Amino acid sequence: MPLLHPAGRPVASPAMNVLGIDVGGSAFKGAPVEIATGKLLAEPWRVPIQSPCPRPQGLAAARAIVRHFNWTGPVGIGFPGVIQEGRIGAVGNLGFVWQNQPGAKLFARATGCPVKLANDADAAGLAELRFGAGHGRQDTVLMLTFGTGIGSALFYRGALYPNVELGHIPWKGKPIERYASAAVRDRRKLEWAEWAERVNVFLANAERLVSPGLIIIGGGVSKDHRQWFKYLKTRAKVVPAKLHNEAGIVGAALAGE
Ligand code: BGC
Repeated sequence: MPLLHPAGRPVASPAMNVLGIDVGGSAFKGAPVEIATGKLLAEPWRVPIQSPCPRPQGLAAARAIVRHFNWTGPVGIGFPGVIQEGRIGAVGNLGFVWQNQPGAKLFARATGCPVKLANDADAAGLAELRFGAGHGRQDTVLMLTFGTGIGSALFYRGALYPNVELGHIPWKGKPIERYASAAVRDRRKLEWAEWAERVNVFLANAERLVSPGLIIIGGGVSKDHRQWFKYLKTRAKVVPAKLHNEAGIVGAALAGE
């Protein structure tokens, strides 16, 4: 809604910039983002972390990014776990010490800024739906991020159903992300075709559960899509994230709005 000035005439809303921070399995990465356009306003600043990541180290990483940009405004953080009302629920790869914590409060205290949290894949999906490969889609869209884990975000008529954790579908007694994530490809030195067969197992399960019309794939491996998308067998169309790895930062900023 446009802002109204006292006489009822609309006034231009002030340009809104939010610092977006994407929390990954090996680093926190952040940059200021212009919300209206989804453009990064500076080169992202990356702070490496251990895996699993002790809580003080993660909080210090967020603080270092805020200080790097001399930031005092709103901050949005995309976090690899279930997020409900700013609280962290089940966590995949970052470590159990983050579980059941008041995440938004902890990060706000550590950075001195107002902070909103969202699941990292939900955040990346928000960015792709607003500015990228899912723009204008009204059908069921599934955003997947392949990294240390497998993140998933589900949209219908442009609205997000939060905290869909398809990477935790059980496969051979473990979450399927431990079988098919990008980190598994690196660790086991799998060929693209070999790894894509694992991804196909995951995608068949995901399609059976949520019947997407479009699947958007993000994470670092999305920039290599020509190497492996040709092996994928899906009913839905599969496209790479348009914002590539930046979707996480841009989406985190959108979530911090
Ligand atoms: C977490 C998800 C996250 C995904 C990608 C999984 O281990 O459970 O919440 O979205 O990794 O980071």
